[in-house]
Amino acid sequence: MDKAQKIFNPIWNDYLKNNPLVKSVYNSFIELGEEVVNDHIAFRTFNDPRINIDVLSKQFINAGYEFKGEYHFEQKKLYAKHFELAGFENAPRIFISELKLEEMSPFLRETALRLIDQIPTNILDSPELILKGRLWEKPSYKVYEQLRQESEYASWVYVFGFRANHFTISINSLQQLNSIEKVVNFLIDKGFEMNTSGGIIKGNPEGLLEQASITAGTIPVEFIEGDYDIPGCYYEFARRYEDKNGNLYSGFIAKSADKIFESTDYRKN
Ligand code: NI
Repeated sequence: MDKAQKIFNPIWNDYLKNNPLVKSVYNSFIELGEEVVNDHIAFRTFNDPRINIDVLSKQFINAGYEFKGEYHFEQKKLYAKHFELAGFENAPRIFISELKLEEMSPFLRETALRLIDQIPTNILDSPELILKGRLWEKPSYKVYEQLRQESEYASWVYVFGFRANHFTISINSLQQLNSIEKVVNFLIDKGFEMNTSGGIIKGNPEGLLEQASITAGTIPVEFIEGDYDIPGCYYEFARRYEDKNGNLYSGFIAKSADKIFESTDYRKN
């Protein structure tokens, strides 16, 4: 667990530092006296063999994580895997998704390859890759917009690169806000905007997993054309249930995750 914790600390610090909205959600839970435990941490990438899930998961595998499940998102052209730390029930799961470039337009594919070609080889081989952020040219707002028309996911990776896309608070570990309804009401009362795609609460107790998320707060980004505010990272909340054998469900539900991805979609203010 110590080895894994060393990986998480800089990722967590970067996530809080760059996303004031996330920090204020975190502070609201702490002010209430809750202990915040992470259900999972999610990362995004492209499926190019130099930076795909297998590459990004390497350092977690080295720290003792094991592959546990895979997920397909046909419409969004995404594939994902989740990993767990053997022997540590409270360790966050790691969820890594990748965009299937071969299914995208020539424009998107060529843009992604041009970006990946710019990553220094020593960083591609380094375990630090996952927390290096954007490792390519300063983004162009025009390109961002064009990518966004085809894939919100691709436009997010283009601007933000390698970093946590979101952390997820485990509702099972909360004392007062011990149901997803209580968490959602608490967040709405505090003025946070929820992702409503597919309903605020995704999943149900029968499915053994309930999830909700805030929409990503906009943060200023320097583009070639000037500064623009665009959605950064978000915070998610998950409540897990035991199956009929008394084992806590540990996987993910593609139908819910599909909607959670939309938490970073661009919105006009
Ligand atoms: Ni998630």
